[in-house]
Amino acid sequence: MKYTVVEASNDTEFGLKAKAAFYAAIDGLSMPNVVLPTGETPRPFYQALRDDGSKPAFTYVQLDEYLGLAESDPRLFAAWLARDVLDPLDIKIRLTFNSAAEPEQEVRRMRDRLAVHGPIDIAVLGIGSNGHIGFNEPGSSFDHGVRIVDLAVETIAANKAYWPQSGTSFPAQAFTLGLADLKAARQTILLVRGEGKAEILRRALLGEITPDVPGSYLQRQKGLTIVADTAALSAMKL
Ligand code: F6R
Repeated sequence: MKYTVVEASNDTEFGLKAKAAFYAAIDGLSMPNVVLPTGETPRPFYQALRDDGSKPAFTYVQLDEYLGLAESDPRLFAAWLARDVLDPLDIKIRLTFNSAAEPEQEVRRMRDRLAVHGPIDIAVLGIGSNGHIGFNEPGSSFDHGVRIVDLAVETIAANKAYWPQSGTSFPAQAFTLGLADLKAARQTILLVRGEGKAEILRRALLGEITPDVPGSYLQRQKGLTIVADTAALSAMKL
C-alpha cells in the first residue's frame, strides 16, 4: 500500500493543507468530477477554500444524502454543502440526490448520471467512527454502487448531534455512492481530524481489509492522500 500522509498540528493548518492537497489533485483537469463530504471533519477545509477566494471549476457529485426529507429541510446534505462550499465557490453543476423522490428511481437516476458523466476524478472523504465511508456502513460490499442504505444506530446518533434542535425524528435511511464508485476514483483525499478517529484510522489503514471496516478498501486505493491532524494519527505511531 502506498499513500501520502499530510499531518497538521491544528485546525487552521489542517484546512490549509487539505486545500493544498485538493488544488494539487484538480490541477490541470478540466471540470473534474469531485465528491465532497459533509460532517465536522471538513469544516476547516471548507473555511480555507472560502477564504482563498479563488473559484476552482469542477462538477460536484454528491456522496450521500438522507432519504425522505423535504426539499427545504436545512438538514439535507446538499443544503449543507451548498452553504459551506458550493455557493461560495460558485459551483454550478451539481449531481445531487433528490431526497424526496421515489427512492429506487432516484438510485437509477444517479447511476445513470454517473455512467454518463464518467467516473469520479477526486473523492474527498471523511471516515465515521465505525469505519463507514459515505454511508457505506460496516458490512457493505466493496462491489456495490449507488444504493439505499439503513443507517447504523451509531451513525444516526452522530448525525442527530449535527442537529440537536431537531427532536427525536431523524432519517434512518440514506442514499450513498457505493464503495465500487469510490474505488473507481482516480484520486482520493481522506480527511481525518481528532483523537476520536485515531483507532478507526489505524484499523482502516493497518488492519485487515474487510467489509466490517469499510474504510479498509483504501489500502488498495491508488492515488490516496491522507490529511490528518496529529491526534488522529496518534494510534498509527504506536
Ligand atoms: C458525510 C459522510 C460521512 C462522514 C463521517 C465522518 O457526508 O459521508 O461518512 O464523512 O461520518 O463524519 P464527521 O466528519 O462528522 O466525523
